[in-house]
Amino acid sequence: MSLTISKDSIKVLFSEQEIANQIAKLAAIINEDYKNTQNLVLIGVLKGAFIFVSDLARALNLPCQLEFIRLSSYQGTQRTNNFRVYDLTLPNLEDKDVLIIEDIVDSGRTAHFLLDFFTNQAKAKTVKLAALFDKPSKREAEFANIKPDYSCFEIGDIFILGYGLDFDQKFRELPYIGRIEGLV
Ligand code: IMP
Ligand code: MG
Repeated sequence: MSLTISKDSIKVLFSEQEIANQIAKLAAIINEDYKNTQNLVLIGVLKGAFIFVSDLARALNLPCQLEFIRLSSYQGTQRTNNFRVYDLTLPNLEDKDVLIIEDIVDSGRTAHFLLDFFTNQAKAKTVKLAALFDKPSKREAEFANIKPDYSCFEIGDIFILGYGLDFDQKFRELPYIGRIEGLV
C-alpha cells in the first residue's frame, strides 16, 4: 500500500536553526574528545545521514577523512526486520579512530551491526557512534545496550522526516525536521 503525503500535512518539529544550534553544541564536545588524534575518520551512513554528516563535518574543527557506506532498513514507515547492505567499500581502518555518523538509532539493529563491523571486522583503533536522533523507547530488547556516544535530540515513538530523513524516499531535501500530522 502506498500513502501519498502532501507537504501541507508536515508540521515543523525542529527548525533549521534549532538543528544548527544542537550540531554546534555537539561539535564542541567532539572537538574536545578528539583533539589529540590525527586519524579521525567520519563514516556517513547513507542515505539518511547525508545532510547531518556534511553539517557536522563543517562544524568540527578537526582534521578528518570522510567515508560513506550505504544501508537501508526502512520501507515507508514500516521497519523491515533485516536491513540491506548496499555498499560497504572502505579503506583500511586499522589505525583509525572511527566515528560513525547515523541519522537515527531506533531499534538499535543497524547501530549494533555497524559497531560490531567496525570493531571486529574492520578492526578500527577506536569506534564511536554519533546519531542526530535517538529513540531510546524503541530499542529492541536484544539491543538494549546500544546507545549513541553522541546525539543531538532524544525523541519518543514518532516518525520524523526531512533533513536527510525520508518517508518512502521522499522529503529528504527539507531543511527542517518535520512530522506528518496524524501519523505515528
Ligand atoms: P534501526 O536499525 O531500527 O535502529 O533503524 C535505524 C534506521 O531506520 C535509521 O538509520 C533510519 O534510516 C531509519 N529510521 C528510523 N526511524 C525513522 C524515522 O522516524 N524517520 C525516518 N527514518 C527512520
Ligand atoms: Mg539510516
